[in-house]
Amino acid sequence: MPAVIPRFRHAGPPGASVRFTIDGRPAEAPEGVSLAAALLLAGVDGFRPLCLMGSCQGCLVSIDGGVRERACLAPVRAGADVRLA
Ligand code: FES
Repeated sequence: MPAVIPRFRHAGPPGASVRFTIDGRPAEAPEGVSLAAALLLAGVDGFRPLCLMGSCQGCLVSIDGGVRERACLAPVRAGADVRLA
């Protein structure tokens, strides 16, 4: 039986949060949420994920200068440099 990889997990205790940047602007999100959730919580204009489960690729972002990846499958990480374009 293949290992089950959790895609979603509970956020950390109330008050726990991580700081990161979106196109150079500072942002903050609860620890443990997906990067897509963090971007939605930040109210980013133009970020329109559709499925939030890795199927549509409507949430592609670059993290720390890497290749574009699905934000709905990536956890938000402290200090991440997230680029939408
Ligand atoms: S929202 Fe569909 S792949 Fe991320």
